[in-house]
Amino acid sequence: MSEATRVKNTGLRGVTVADSAISFIDGEKGVLIYRGYRIEDLADRSSFMETVYLLLFGILPTGEHLEAFTRQVKDLRRVPGYVIDSMRHWPKSARPMDVLQACVPLLSMAEEHGDTMDRQVCLNRSIALVAQMPTLVAAWHRIRNDQPVLDPDPDLDHAGNFLWMLQGKKTDPATAKDLDVCLILHADHTFNASTFAAREVVSTRASLYAGVAAGLGALSGSLHGGANAKVMEMLLKLENEPDIEGWVSARLAGGERIMGMGHAIYKTGDPRAVYLKRMGQRLGAQTGGKWADISRKIEETALAIFAGLGKSTILPNVDFNSAPVYYLMGIPTDLMTPIFAISRVAGWCAHIIEEQFADVQGKPALYRPQAQYVGEYCGLMGCEYSPMSTRK
Ligand code: COA
Repeated sequence: MSEATRVKNTGLRGVTVADSAISFIDGEKGVLIYRGYRIEDLADRSSFMETVYLLLFGILPTGEHLEAFTRQVKDLRRVPGYVIDSMRHWPKSARPMDVLQACVPLLSMAEEHGDTMDRQVCLNRSIALVAQMPTLVAAWHRIRNDQPVLDPDPDLDHAGNFLWMLQGKKTDPATAKDLDVCLILHADHTFNASTFAAREVVSTRASLYAGVAAGLGALSGSLHGGANAKVMEMLLKLENEPDIEGWVSARLAGGERIMGMGHAIYKTGDPRAVYLKRMGQRLGAQTGGKWADISRKIEETALAIFAGLGKSTILPNVDFNSAPVYYLMGIPTDLMTPIFAISRVAGWCAHIIEEQFADVQGKPALYRPQAQYVGEYCGLMGCEYSPMSTRK
């Protein structure tokens, strides 16, 4: 293919692939909206359970509906015994995101007609997955540390129960509330890589579980949800570094990326990052503010370098500021991306159901993009197949 006929590939940036009524981003103004409601209003005034209801059903619940929904989620928190039994045979060094991704098809195995296209069944399964995701993460953490797996506590809310099952102690309500806000902020984000992966998979009429497992796989990568763990690794590495500015400069000069900075859509700031930065500063102030100080130095140095390169749109994103928040809550680094998943599963399921059942105007049933072929080409008759004995 000649250079003249070659198109520039953009990783689908700016390409609209479907209609969606679930969330909206204005990347220039730094606005994120779920089903019409601003993320800041939800973080300040809602709860994760209410946000899940909003994402799945499209409207804010009445008090009665929210109470029934919360009860339903609580009743579904346990996972089948064979899932926990299986985990006990897995290598303790397994990455939690791999474990989580492996568990989703295991949950599917308990379902008759796992690939059903019944909307109500898919909604019920979505609610069950939201309920069970924290149980899976906590159970794996306990098993890998040779600790007993703890039963969910129906008296605790979603975040508080997760921290209980993980840490084996009842957390204070303020920490549970902070984690609940983190879950609200991560619950959906339009056609990000993992949501697109989930929608693409179910566009083949694969099951909801297959879509969620695909979402988990995409989320695990360090350019997506995996970035929060990488940010914490960076902060820990720089904990005793006297020359943070020098470290950041050297890294960027070497062509490497600063994790937790930059975003494909937000170009003036990530509203989730603003919220989490404040939370991190508040939590950090109680313990000396070390992480906020290190983060500030990284941010200031990187922003000055980016400005010099004409790349002022690279700014801290959600992961830059969520990582120290989770750390201050006592969450191990490799569980930070699974916590993202505990929240984002709500958005994935809403998108999967929309993909499966909504009348997506003008969109063919199946996603099928195309690639620009840049490999060997000898014309439509193909290259001459040489016998093995003649090959060099
Ligand atoms: N550190 C250093 N340079 C960065 C950067 C970062 N965190 N993020 C983007 N850039 C640079 C790229 O090197 C590239 O430079 P070039 O044009 O000179 O090659 C340019 O900015 C564009 O990056 P690109 O990956 O092509 O597009 P993007 O702006 O859509 O990237 C991300 C979005 C998220 C992939 C990118 O910002 C990134 O890798 N960030 C770090 C990982 C991260 O935090 N991910 C979580 C996102 S919520």
